[in-house]
Amino acid sequence: MIDAPRHKAASPGGPSSAPSGRADLLDDLCRHLTAAWESFDRPRAREPRMDADLADRLRGALPGAPGVPREALDDAVGVLEASMSPSRPLFLAYVPSTGLETGVIASALSAAYDVNLASAAGAADLLDEQAVRWVAEFVGYPAAEGHFTSGGQTSNLTALLAAREQALPGAREQGVTGRRGTVYCSAEAHHSVVRAVEAAGLGRRALRRVPVDERHRMRPDELQRALVRDRAAGFTPVAVVATAGTTLTGAVDPLAAVADVCGREEVWLHVDGAYGVSAAATRRAAHLFDGLDRADSVTVDAHKWLGLQKGCSVLLVRRRGPLRAAFGHEEHYMPHEEDTGNPVDRTFEYSRPLRSLRLWLSLRVHGADRFRTWIESTLSHAALLADEVRGHSSFSLLCEPVLSTVCFRHVVPGLDDSGLDAHNDRLVRAMQADGRVFLASAVVDGRTCLRTCFVNFRTTSDGVRTVLEVADELGMALARETFAGGGVHPRK
Ligand SMILES: Cc1ncc(COP(=O)(O)O)c(C=O)c1O
Repeated sequence: MIDAPRHKAASPGGPSSAPSGRADLLDDLCRHLTAAWESFDRPRAREPRMDADLADRLRGALPGAPGVPREALDDAVGVLEASMSPSRPLFLAYVPSTGLETGVIASALSAAYDVNLASAAGAADLLDEQAVRWVAEFVGYPAAEGHFTSGGQTSNLTALLAAREQALPGAREQGVTGRRGTVYCSAEAHHSVVRAVEAAGLGRRALRRVPVDERHRMRPDELQRALVRDRAAGFTPVAVVATAGTTLTGAVDPLAAVADVCGREEVWLHVDGAYGVSAAATRRAAHLFDGLDRADSVTVDAHKWLGLQKGCSVLLVRRRGPLRAAFGHEEHYMPHEEDTGNPVDRTFEYSRPLRSLRLWLSLRVHGADRFRTWIESTLSHAALLADEVRGHSSFSLLCEPVLSTVCFRHVVPGLDDSGLDAHNDRLVRAMQADGRVFLASAVVDGRTCLRTCFVNFRTTSDGVRTVLEVADELGMALARETFAGGGVHPRK
């Protein structure tokens, strides 16, 4: 078992009496926090019940008079307890997280100081830059600069705006009407690419979905064909977005071959590594990311496989210049430094939290080697689950796991393909209601399946073993219902 980050036990007795000042309020908050961390080890169903009185209070009007801080804090915790929280060790749906305690402390600290990043902020800018360099070094990407953003969606959009200004100079001033820019991604790319293309004003029809091979990876030959065809028809290719770790199956596009095509065609290559690229730091998976260093930009979500809380993504860019070309502004009321430029001239946001502090503090406290070990352990968990699926007569593996995502289905003899689709869909809902193992359904190659994604550093091998136990227990119960009254159930 890995040396996973642990939290201190909750203090018995719950929150202290009503706070009278700042220290009491903080003390109360810390008690709530430790209690929350304790509760993360317990299973939780999809829709935890919320107290009816609390639900009533949530419909209440704007309070005019001061309230009792402790009561407000208790209500805040009540709401959070009744909401979906992905930091549990067996929350395996979507792309979850670990919720490292260092990230919580860093968030609270940066909120307390509330430094102003909308102008040159001094030491905080240096910390931001150091964190960018560290994450670039961690994944093996030669970034000249970068930025922390709120998420993979914003990082992808920021990259696309930089690529747009390079391919269609002056687009930010004149707009793109009539300029016929195109963007390329695989058929399996995340929907954030579609939204980024829309937000960049290129229009959704500018997006070309390149076909994938049998392992769900972009086909470079098809990409080449699409680029040549579009150029001949008068389009201007703006960017190719390769995915390093697709959300659905964890497929990594062949980055070196895609970079060859982009080099030949002189098109910006952005790698959406929001989920997967952190695995480039491991010995086990590094080879999958060959060619990453040739990308013009890369998205890394620290709030996915680097264990941090949401709102912590990094956009890395290989050369200095394109970000400034896309976002620089000369304002008269707020002087910008000439040399280095104000960081705000290299990104879209003005006021923003010091997001980098979460990653910086976590890397300082735990060290990069520990992160590598943690990521390796989640890769092992995916391999372990895939082995178990292969060895179990009631399950079938839909595709070999590449990173830490496993897609499989519960198989009931006597059900045809569409019967199995419906059965697995019901099984996911039953598992979510049960709460011991929380996963989501997915459709892979037209078949509905159970999908798990291992990125939580607190998941254990024993936990992984319970996945199939719970799925089979609930799946067989559903199958018995299905067959009740008609025919004999195959396992009886
Ligand atoms: C590959 C990929 N890109 C982008 C995103 C969007 O990231 P975010 O939710 O941080 O905006 C996701 C989210 O799961 C993703 O998996």
